[in-house]
Amino acid sequence: MGHRDVTGEDVIRATVGPTRAARGAQVAVTVDGVERVAWLGEPLIEVINRAQVPLAQVCYHEQLGPIQSCDTCAVEIDGVVGRACGTPVRAGLTVRTQTNAARAAQRDAYDRVVANHDLYCTVCDNNNGNCTVHNTLGVLGIDHQTRPFQPKGFPKDESNPFYRYDPDQCILCGRCVEACQNVQVNETLSINWEAEQPRVLWDGGKPIGESSCVSCGHCITVCPCNALQEKSMLGEAGLFTGIPLPVWNAAIDVVKGVEASSGLKPIMNVSEIESAARDRYIKKTKTVCTYCGVGCSFDVWTDERHILKVEPAHGHANGISTCVKGKFGWDYVNSTDRLTSPLIRDGDRFREASWDEALDLIAWRFGEIREQHGPDALAFVASSKASNEEAFLVQKFARQVIGTNNVDNCSRYCQSPASKGLSLTVGIGGDSGTIQDIENASLVITVGSNTAESHPVLATRIKRSQKLGRTHVIVFDIREHELARRADEFHRPNPGTDFVWLAAVSKFILDNGLEDRDFLRERVSGLDEFRESIRDFTLEYAERETGLKAATLVALARQIASQERVCILWAMGVTQQCGGTDTSAAISNLLLITGNYGRLGTGAYPLRGHNNVQGASDMGAQPDAVSGYQKIDDPLAVQRHEREWGVTLRPERGLDNTQMIDAALDGRLKALWLTGEEMSLTDANANHLQEGFEALEFLVVQDLYFTNTARFADVILPAAASLEKEGTFTNTERRIQRLYEVMPPLKGTKPDWQIYMGVADRMGYRWGYTHPAQIMDEIARLTPHFAGVSYDRLEGYETLCWPVAEDGTDQPLLYTERFNFPDGKARLHAGEYRPRQHAPDATFDLHLNSGRMLEHFHEGNMTFRVPGITEKTPDSFVEVSPELAAERGIQSGQWVRLVSEYGAVRLQALVTGRVSGHQLFVPMNARKAEDAVNRLTGSHGDATVNTPAYKDTRVRLELLHDVGPNPLPASNPRWGHPTPQAGVEVERKWARPDYVFPGGLLPLHGDSLNARTDGLGADD
Ligand code: SF4
Ligand code: SF4
Ligand code: SF4
Ligand code: FES
Repeated sequence: MGHRDVTGEDVIRATVGPTRAARGAQVAVTVDGVERVAWLGEPLIEVINRAQVPLAQVCYHEQLGPIQSCDTCAVEIDGVVGRACGTPVRAGLTVRTQTNAARAAQRDAYDRVVANHDLYCTVCDNNNGNCTVHNTLGVLGIDHQTRPFQPKGFPKDESNPFYRYDPDQCILCGRCVEACQNVQVNETLSINWEAEQPRVLWDGGKPIGESSCVSCGHCITVCPCNALQEKSMLGEAGLFTGIPLPVWNAAIDVVKGVEASSGLKPIMNVSEIESAARDRYIKKTKTVCTYCGVGCSFDVWTDERHILKVEPAHGHANGISTCVKGKFGWDYVNSTDRLTSPLIRDGDRFREASWDEALDLIAWRFGEIREQHGPDALAFVASSKASNEEAFLVQKFARQVIGTNNVDNCSRYCQSPASKGLSLTVGIGGDSGTIQDIENASLVITVGSNTAESHPVLATRIKRSQKLGRTHVIVFDIREHELARRADEFHRPNPGTDFVWLAAVSKFILDNGLEDRDFLRERVSGLDEFRESIRDFTLEYAERETGLKAATLVALARQIASQERVCILWAMGVTQQCGGTDTSAAISNLLLITGNYGRLGTGAYPLRGHNNVQGASDMGAQPDAVSGYQKIDDPLAVQRHEREWGVTLRPERGLDNTQMIDAALDGRLKALWLTGEEMSLTDANANHLQEGFEALEFLVVQDLYFTNTARFADVILPAAASLEKEGTFTNTERRIQRLYEVMPPLKGTKPDWQIYMGVADRMGYRWGYTHPAQIMDEIARLTPHFAGVSYDRLEGYETLCWPVAEDGTDQPLLYTERFNFPDGKARLHAGEYRPRQHAPDATFDLHLNSGRMLEHFHEGNMTFRVPGITEKTPDSFVEVSPELAAERGIQSGQWVRLVSEYGAVRLQALVTGRVSGHQLFVPMNARKAEDAVNRLTGSHGDATVNTPAYKDTRVRLELLHDVGPNPLPASNPRWGHPTPQAGVEVERKWARPDYVFPGGLLPLHGDSLNARTDGLGADD
């Protein structure tokens, strides 16, 4: 439903896809003689579609809104022919879709469409039942083309590794341009409407492979024909499409010849039979992306193990959106170096073993070590890439089978401080709303988050809202990344000082009476202690400590206090510091004093990194809590688990990830079972970590590949990939989504849940699950937050945002009535500023920052196995500011050595204004383990939750003599030059001297939805 915003406009919460333009009150309109309910201002075509009246609509896409380029949706509106998509609903409209004039206009419009498109459907890879251009022919019942197909005279562009553009097939509908300009907001695409022969352009006319295109795939997804096509589809989808080119061309000639003699119908019938035959071998399976925490879901089209394409449409988090990893980053699944057999250490080598032998050995060694040293000599790390059910079983194994709380997951490395900060203030350690709340905020602030690269699809919604003038965006970061460049305001505080400006802004708000007093009085406690705790955070002090001007902070305070809906997003720039928990709580405090919780478009959003890092913690893969954050000493939780598992939970907190390594080094920890984590490269102080692994008596590593971590293992187990199993993931919104088996597990591998069962079984615990749904049922029984979660309620694209009540009611937006504390009130947290411990000094004079890149995920184990990605982004590098480059005589491509207290790496320099002064940035993905950035980071961390302070690192830079090519090749989109424009700019098409509205009539209605039509309104 609509929600009135500060500008008086209504905003719509779309169920799926990007939020759309305003609509108003309910009104009545008449469509083909039947009165229909409509919303004032919505596109008329929506009313017609809801009424299921068949109407051609080639350029209209409900997630893009009206483009008005094809004219096929012509209908009579109050007696005048106009575009149904471009006409906003008014009360009392009378619409007729099938008058002679309307029909003539529709057919004329379609005839112009196919003059731009060669109809060779039977031999087309896009002939899969969902081709809009093909299907429209049927809707209109057209049998003959009056305007012959005219080739445009441009060659195909095949310069992108993932997709190609065929200008001859392009009908110039502009869907791709709208998607690129206003949904993805990469602003690469345009159409040169004024040219004699218009076409789609990349960066105004560059080859795709040399443009700013980030290969997100939005354009291909929405293309209504085969003009834009995934290369993985070409020659693979159809029965006849893989034939050699000369034969294929001859086949097209035959098809065209039949058309000339007997009309379109016979060949369309044949193509439909051929299309239907494809259903026998093309499988379409819904899954959820295995990369980041945005949680995009989509159908994967496969022919056996060949991935034909990824088709997003219905995902609640993403709609039509993906980034390059979700759309194209799947080659790793069929990588030839997948592990396909368990491996057992044999001295310095590994030998292949049967599953029985490997699982027997694990069960025997675990039993032996527990016998000799007690249960706490063993520890378990769940994977944030595996499913909820699998994370649940890891902690069940630890607590039930072994009897220890030594269990954790990789949220320790990034998210624990944010979860803690929110638990302290509002009671639930997760995002307080959904992505649709973020895109409906009037002010979005990001702190220490490279959102456009780390959470790309979520960032598109911010970029879109900002571009459409709905949202003001302020970025706080030390690095000028994409969102920083686009932001309305970009502020660069000194590293590690976010707590200070947050406290100073809160103090200014309270000192000047700008707070939301009603909200504070009714819903928040702890104001006096909080006020006292920030007493010393004056503007003057904040200016000195953060480097931000006092005037900037004052303006910010006034802005936050006056905006109707504020969301604050943060990520590892905040959490991977010494005071990540306190800074996270400080963000929440600021939202609380300004009343920004519990309403549409408000709240706190710690952006989760891995696809299921939220879920791994939710499932109790933590040393102090079982599933649903129930403390291990909570009497009710103990009782439930006793009943379900037949064991008593131990009340002592177990070891977290970082403590496990220390315990291994001092001999307390003997065995570790690690699933799906490249811990040896992603934990801080990698050299120290490897010593820890070496000190263990028995290490089990479960993964897709022989990873760097696997080198230290005693047993390596080959796991199935996410496409090869069923389960659920929980994204950053707390949204639980099902994934289905796209293809069977690669021969020799097993899904993680079956592996845990195999060992539990051998240790006397017959769990007996035959499907992950049964594990979810157990989770629901044990976990109040998941009480109403079941696979039936998550069927297909259905989702639930926890907490979920027994009756299935979920809570996408938290805290609408109460915060998660016994008295229902939020608690302001009196935190402490913890300055960085490793500020640059005389020996290590540079600050080192690290983080993700758009193309690669985390350490890169999956994305380095995607050739298209490595072609554009082959390796890591170190970003050096122009100032530092000038000072030290560094050029891009030069090899340098970075040295810290903990280790050294050798990287190529990339001189860029993204970093400033004496700050460096190194991506966390590294092709060579010896150059991983975590060779440089230290072991110190957050005082509350032990998250390593990765971002508090100092290094020195040594110049080496070698100079190579720029580490970012010329084909990388960062070198491109986007061409921002308002969208398709269809008015420029209409302004062409040769353009006439089909049927010779003008498209009327001066109040067109996007003011793209002018002239007389129908009522004039
Ligand atoms: S960035 Fe590239 S792939 Fe994405 S919509 Fe634009 S042109 Fe298409
Ligand atoms: S390439 Fe773009 S303009 Fe051409 S048909 Fe596809 S979506 Fe339409
Ligand atoms: S990596 Fe993240 S943003 Fe990209 S498709 Fe996957 S879930 Fe979506
Ligand atoms: S659907 Fe293309 S103009 Fe309306």
